[in-house]
Amino acid sequence: MKIFGLFILITSLIYFYDFFTEFTEIIIEKVTTITPPLYSSSNPKVCTVTDSSYTPSRPSKDESMPIPNSQFIYSPKPFEIDDTENLRTLGLSCIPDSFGYSIEQGQSVFPYHGYPKCSVLNNQNDTYLHIDRNKNILYMDCPNGNRGKVVTGPVDDRKLAKGAEVYDKWKVKKYDGEESAEGIEYGLATCEDDNEYMQASLVPIFNETAFNISKSKLNSKPRIIFFLTLDSMSRRHTFRKTPRIINFLNSLNANPSSNYSVFDFKLHNILGPDSISNQVPIFGGLDHFSPEFSGDQNIDRLGDAALWNILRNKGYITLLGLENCDNYFPGALGRKPQVDYSVNPFYCAVQKYTPTRFDKYYELQQRCLGGHQTHWYILNYTRTVAELNRGTNMFLYNHLNSAHESSGLHAETLNDDVTEFLDEFLESFGKDHEIFIYLNADHGMRYGNWYKDLDAYTEQKLPSLFVIADKKLLDQYPYSYYSLATNSQRLTSKLDLRETTLFLAGVIEKTPYSVNLLEELSPITRLCEHVGIKAWDCSCIKMSEILEPNKIVKGVVDILKDYAENLINSASYQHPFYPLGSVCKKVILENVTKIYHVNINNVNEYFKLEIESSARKGMKFQINYTLMSDNANKKRSSFQYRFENYAYNAPVRIKILSISRIDKFAGPCELIARNHGIKAEFCACVDA
Ligand SMILES: *[C@@H]1O[C@H](CO)[C@@H](O)[C@H](O)[C@H]1NC(C)=O
Ligand SMILES: *[C@@H]1O[C@H](CO)[C@@H](O)[C@H](O)[C@H]1NC(C)=O
Ligand SMILES: *[C@@H]1O[C@H](CO)[C@@H](O)[C@H](O)[C@H]1NC(C)=O
Ligand SMILES: *[C@@H]1O[C@H](CO)[C@@H](O)[C@H](O)[C@H]1NC(C)=O
Ligand SMILES: *[C@@H]1O[C@H](CO)[C@@H](O)[C@H](O)[C@H]1NC(C)=O
Ligand SMILES: *[C@@H]1O[C@H](CO)[C@@H](O)[C@H](O)[C@H]1NC(C)=O
Ligand SMILES: *[C@@H]1O[C@H](CO)[C@@H](O)[C@H](O)[C@H]1NC(C)=O
Repeated sequence: MKIFGLFILITSLIYFYDFFTEFTEIIIEKVTTITPPLYSSSNPKVCTVTDSSYTPSRPSKDESMPIPNSQFIYSPKPFEIDDTENLRTLGLSCIPDSFGYSIEQGQSVFPYHGYPKCSVLNNQNDTYLHIDRNKNILYMDCPNGNRGKVVTGPVDDRKLAKGAEVYDKWKVKKYDGEESAEGIEYGLATCEDDNEYMQASLVPIFNETAFNISKSKLNSKPRIIFFLTLDSMSRRHTFRKTPRIINFLNSLNANPSSNYSVFDFKLHNILGPDSISNQVPIFGGLDHFSPEFSGDQNIDRLGDAALWNILRNKGYITLLGLENCDNYFPGALGRKPQVDYSVNPFYCAVQKYTPTRFDKYYELQQRCLGGHQTHWYILNYTRTVAELNRGTNMFLYNHLNSAHESSGLHAETLNDDVTEFLDEFLESFGKDHEIFIYLNADHGMRYGNWYKDLDAYTEQKLPSLFVIADKKLLDQYPYSYYSLATNSQRLTSKLDLRETTLFLAGVIEKTPYSVNLLEELSPITRLCEHVGIKAWDCSCIKMSEILEPNKIVKGVVDILKDYAENLINSASYQHPFYPLGSVCKKVILENVTKIYHVNINNVNEYFKLEIESSARKGMKFQINYTLMSDNANKKRSSFQYRFENYAYNAPVRIKILSISRIDKFAGPCELIARNHGIKAEFCACVDA
């Protein structure tokens, strides 16, 4: 008893300490495994939200059973951007108010740009640098017999690399005629005496040992499970920017002699805000995901939980290809995920030796390398890997970054290339393999000026997911068609893809957060919390209006109003570049005209306020806030604005998620503000 009392004392001391400092996390984590923290959703007795009548929702359940293939005919209408509206009649517990920009808004925010073909832009059809695996040589065929310069890789045995780790490792050589391509997987070159290495070649080195092992484990028709991931493509953006892909998918469903069925997952919600928090849990499950880890980085961080390791044991050849050179995937996966084939350092070389970049701030610059878009090289590599390993099981993951930029327009360049790739891939490998493709996005766009729109915010949460599946494969699972068709109209998320992928390879892995899309139904009552999605990533959070706020709510709303006022003025009236009030007047937030609210749980809530100011005629803001007294999203980087702490009946942190103007603020003042680099929405101009 004494020991228990001491334990309680120590525990409460630690909790107490935590109110004042953030450096106790490690200790707290240890303690929370024994007893939940005071302020947390796992301690429902403590309630720090304004509405204390909150009751947690019940687990989701669906008694209905899938219908067998023998009694169900899948014949969908052609997929259209707006057919998500049909979901409203299905009685789903999770149904977003908006699925994103309307067609008209979408056209004006993301007008057609019309990127020329790289072959036209650079006046060459292919590349002048080649790796010929038959002769195992590297050679150039520059116009006019020019001889330029070349760099080659890999430069070390990392499968993935953070840019800084490889940046100084390449060596530029003068090109002196053909050379051995032994151990060379990629090269960049220029035919001129300049420093723009726009000629490229990326060709896998065949691993015959791996092929033989894979072959020896084969006991049925080989499968290809393929994640073709288009970074930053919401479902709607896919319809807007890559209509040829959509037409191609529709043609597969429409053609009676087609060997494939396609499913359009209309309510596929993100699991986290960025690429890794969505895709890495597919690779390794939710438990193994962390954005960074310490210690030896040259490891396969996901270990035995990694899809590539589980699937390789089942005889799959594995490929992990990333068209980028960022720090996130290497940080979450380690540098040596044990895949048979990988692409990533090549794109670091592209960043170093060409003017092309893969990060989001790189706007309106077309990403060409020779006669092709940069993404073409990884697609060609993947096709070659599949060709070399024809007749074996394969797990392929490609991550294309063409839509990962802030204008939202460059996604257009995927339209032809991905369509042609898919068409050829199915044609070429469909005879020998049962193909199952997830044509998916990690998340929707999450940057750019337009991102402040609420509709854009929703789109970020609703990435595209199309499943393209060989009919002969689906026929082997008695409930597959009805299950896929039904699930495509219900809430799904990333963890479902993991369970389904493992199932396809003959491995059963049940989790509380996932369903097997091929033979289970996502329940009608499924909510984000049932899928492992946090409230701030959920597309279907419903707010209700508070018409008669009580005293507590009034008090909180006043604090929220002051906080927003400070924030708005700090970016306009008090803008650090200009003397106080020289461009924008002080904005005083006056009347709160609407209060919307939702409880997430006992320690998290959302507010949305509409607030007027007389600083300009009709000036009106809509502001979303999250309030929390647990540590749930402290480290989340994608929030735009800083945290504000306040104590009301507990230490609560407030964060503003978005501030938008709902009056028409366009006009002379908007221009003045923009010319000064000030957020126009926040500025009440001194003289306009
Ligand atoms: C590219 O190919 C097209 C069609 O085959 C041909 O007409 C054109 O001249 C080629 N362009 C170059 C620069 O070789
Ligand atoms: C793979 O198998 C083939 C045919 O059995 C054999 O000729 C070849 O030597 C094997 N290759 C390796 C690297 O084991
Ligand atoms: C080829 O595959 C085998 C079997 O997976 C592996 O042990 C070996 O390291 C691979 N070789 C290369 C060069 O990657
Ligand atoms: C479907 O597959 C069969 C057998 O592999 C093939 O003959 C046929 O051409 C395919 N159909 C289409 C439309 O490609
Ligand atoms: C890859 O691209 C080259 C042209 O650069 C082409 O010759 C080759 O056939 C392509 N590989 C595949 C598998 O399509
Ligand atoms: C706020 O409300 C008061 C009283 O209803 C009204 O007189 C005032 O004009 C309003 N202010 C704004 C900025 O609309
Ligand atoms: C703000 O509120 C709107 C309306 O309820 C909602 O659709 C949107 O997702 C909210 N924004 C954030 C960042 O939660």
